[in-house]
Amino acid sequence: QSISIIRVPFGLGAGRPGSENGPESMLKFGLVKKLEGLGYDVQADQCIRLPQGIHSPAGSTMKHVQEVLTVSGLLGKAVGDAVAAGHIPLVLGGDHSIAMGSLAGLTGHYRNMGVIWVDAHSDLNTESTSPSGNMHGISLAVGLGLSHIKLRQISEGAVALKPENCVIIGARDLDREEKALIRSCGLTCFTMHEIDRLGIEKVVQKALQIAGNGTDGVHLSFDIDSVDPIEAPGTGTPVRGGLSYREAHLSLELMSESGLITSADFVEVNPLLDRNNQTSKLAVELIGSLFGSRIL
Ligand code: ARG
Ligand code: MN
Ligand code: MN
Ligand code: MN
Repeated sequence: QSISIIRVPFGLGAGRPGSENGPESMLKFGLVKKLEGLGYDVQADQCIRLPQGIHSPAGSTMKHVQEVLTVSGLLGKAVGDAVAAGHIPLVLGGDHSIAMGSLAGLTGHYRNMGVIWVDAHSDLNTESTSPSGNMHGISLAVGLGLSHIKLRQISEGAVALKPENCVIIGARDLDREEKALIRSCGLTCFTMHEIDRLGIEKVVQKALQIAGNGTDGVHLSFDIDSVDPIEAPGTGTPVRGGLSYREAHLSLELMSESGLITSADFVEVNPLLDRNNQTSKLAVELIGSLFGSRIL
């Protein structure tokens, strides 16, 4: 099996700088060696950079729209090429806006794709509800076709996700309109409350069932802020009360065991906000668990 690591050093979709340094940091802490040690053939040469001279017009409500769309278009192409070549795309962000690019590239290939979105947030704002104007807060809404921005304007042939195959895990900071959308749009959201009550194992099993039901691929979009800030302080929008260290690992171990995951994003690692590189190192470990690393 080969994994195509695609670095996306882009952080303009977030409200504060630093996540653009995430990919280099994860690589520095041994990601390639770890994956090779698990038996994969690893390609790590791809890097998606914002071309010079792309600027959004001032005065629109969402910030850096043009920059996000440009990077997402390039990422969509790279992800599409990777799956077409039979590789597993592993996208290293960057802020969570880049998931638009992953989803655009993937849905051109997997026509019926499930998505598991592990995040403290739901990223379900739209241009009309975003309280911040930050593009990383709307990426799942774009995936579902709920924004004015459509996946097919990012990658030709992309199609919107079906909400019945989309699951959020770990949510604990939702804006008012996001809550209304979650209740009405048909996706499943396992908040921290459900994780407390059911346990993470049940929640992830249910999530895999929903995302895998009748789909031809399952994309994992993992926002590191899903993990409790005690374990993952290096992220731009930390929220207390998150996944414990073991819950995070177990989630990825269960996804790995299922054999259903066909691609993944790891986003929002912000080395500028980190303590002793704890968050970058954790991200590398968690990616290891997704790809088969086990305690014994
Ligand atoms: N809901 C807030 C917003 O829309 C925060 C989003 C945080 N998203 C993230 N990918 N970290 O601005
Ligand atoms: Mn997110
Ligand atoms: Mn988040
Ligand atoms: Mn908020």
